[in-house]
Amino acid sequence: MLKIEHLSTSYKTIDGNIRVINDLNFEIYDNEIFGIAGESGCGKTTLLKALYDIVEFPLQIDSGRVILSGEKNGTPFSYESGKIRNTWWNNITYVPQAAQSVLNPIMRLKHQFLDSIPKEDRKNETEEQTLKRVARYLEELSLSPDLLEAFPFQLSGGMRQRVIIALATFMSPNVVLADEPTTALDVVVQRGILMMLMRLQSQLKNTVVLVSHDMGVHYQVTHRMGIMYSGSLVELGKTDDIFNEPLHPYTRMLINALPRVGDKSQKVGIPGRPPALTNPPPGCRFAPRCPNATETCRQAVPVFQEVRPGRFVACHKLNREVV
Ligand SMILES: Nc1ncnc2c1ncn2[C@@H]1O[C@H](COP(=O)(O)OP(=O)(O)OP(=O)(O)O)[C@@H](O)[C@H]1O
Ligand SMILES: [Mg+2]
Repeated sequence: MLKIEHLSTSYKTIDGNIRVINDLNFEIYDNEIFGIAGESGCGKTTLLKALYDIVEFPLQIDSGRVILSGEKNGTPFSYESGKIRNTWWNNITYVPQAAQSVLNPIMRLKHQFLDSIPKEDRKNETEEQTLKRVARYLEELSLSPDLLEAFPFQLSGGMRQRVIIALATFMSPNVVLADEPTTALDVVVQRGILMMLMRLQSQLKNTVVLVSHDMGVHYQVTHRMGIMYSGSLVELGKTDDIFNEPLHPYTRMLINALPRVGDKSQKVGIPGRPPALTNPPPGCRFAPRCPNATETCRQAVPVFQEVRPGRFVACHKLNREVV
């Protein structure tokens, strides 16, 4: 569905170009929830922007591309970076981080729905007929159709987030990109929204790309996931496999930092901080924080390679252990 081919992006700043995404090369499939995890600042949002094709100053693609291809109603389609925006809403939608602010505060929700539905999709419908379809859709999602008459400020944060997800999925897009859709919400509301995303995905059998720094969310929701560190993927595979046996030391640390019910032992944070993207260390970028790092790790960049079928890792130590 989405093919990311040797993608590198940077932000142009007065101090020079800051490389944020570094040679990413992987695929996201049809009919799956793909998770992207990693600490704040590792480039998750930047990657989603590249997938959605909002590559605008100061962000630029230095090399590589994204290809969005698949089939809708029996018709095959294919778009690549620079053209993906031609199919926004139809084949791909985006729920941005802090999505609450994407709703226009002075517009009733019904108008926001009408604005998001391309004219050609409304065919010969009157506004009233389109809104009836929207109302039926909201009901399917256990949301009241009365919401259409409301202004965004009349809704709670969790409700607004559900409405945004309803907006993003109304056109049955092949791909939904969701950036931290549940951050800043309490756990009960968070659970409701995650269940809604899962239910929609299993109905539409489409692709959901879910960005979250919360490994617990990935464990519950995603089928496969990628772990990002400082602009690169360090591990990718089936979520269950990653949790059962994390292969990269960074993934191990992220999982060990998760609280478990009944476990009162003190959790160890991950020592150190991610490197500044303006001046990254040579070799493996995780080496300064890695308990197993050797001289090779500090000098040579590890290759992101398939160490088991469907399992990719970038780690010098592991490659030696597995071979
Ligand atoms: N407009 C910009 N100009 C310059 N640098 C930027 C810009 N936007 C983001 N960056 C830098 O790019 C890096 C990655 O940012 P990004 O927002 O992709 O991280 P993230 O993984 O989504 O973090 P978070 O979990 O906090 O949302 C950060 O170091 C950030 O400072
Ligand atoms: Mg982000």
